[in-house]
Amino acid sequence: MNFLFLGDIVGRAGRNIVIEKLKDLIDQYEIDFVIANGENSAGGYGITEEICNNLFDAGVDVITSGNHIWDQKETMNHIIKENRLLRPMNFQEGTPGRGFEIFEKKGFKIGVMNIMGNVYMKKCEEVFPFVEEQIKKINLKKEVDFLAVDFHAEITSEKQAMGHLLDGKATFVVGTHTHTPTLDFRILEHGTAYQTDAGMCGDYNSVIGMNKENAILKFFKKKSDRLVPVIKDATICGIKVIADDKTGLAKDIQPIMVGGNLKYNN
Ligand SMILES: [Fe+2]
Repeated sequence: MNFLFLGDIVGRAGRNIVIEKLKDLIDQYEIDFVIANGENSAGGYGITEEICNNLFDAGVDVITSGNHIWDQKETMNHIIKENRLLRPMNFQEGTPGRGFEIFEKKGFKIGVMNIMGNVYMKKCEEVFPFVEEQIKKINLKKEVDFLAVDFHAEITSEKQAMGHLLDGKATFVVGTHTHTPTLDFRILEHGTAYQTDAGMCGDYNSVIGMNKENAILKFFKKKSDRLVPVIKDATICGIKVIADDKTGLAKDIQPIMVGGNLKYNN
């Protein structure tokens, strides 16, 4: 089973490049299942029903999210009926929607888990004890054939620690939220593919996708307009994970970077 995980889609530029190029990427890289983090896709703040549907039509199977999931009011209602849109699983009990779901594709059961970190993030349940409990109920090759985890978190050490906690128990653990792809993609000791951050699908001539002039003003603590996404020249960033159909663990992980002004090579 070949997975493509796309980092946070930021604004119109990120959406458009994913919608334009995803079908070709799926063919070129022989992708079976696509997960994309979409929590910044509506002008940088949240996601709408229409954007969800456009991304699903483009070939995305599941959309994950994080701290911006509720930025668009309609999401509270939409998430209840759309099981392909996930919010962090470790939100307080009673929060609408779900953070874990099992999807069927090509005869396999694919679990997708969306979790959120605690360091410098808005309040949610303590993620490590929460995940430790949940993972006891989601065994690879028992409840699911594959388990994909999007860990939406701010700091590297928290993400790496989660990767190791789930090593051997998930197909892959990929970080989102910091919008900058990291070069530490690898397969951990017990077979889980890992990357600290998948990067973003957005314009990198920016500060994490948003206009740099206003971002700089903010850091000077000067008055600035609201941050808005840069919409000029987007790059698709993500990873491909090749998973073993028998064990559910990873055989290979490779970065994908297409278009725009950010390149690994040349
Ligand atoms: Fe985020």
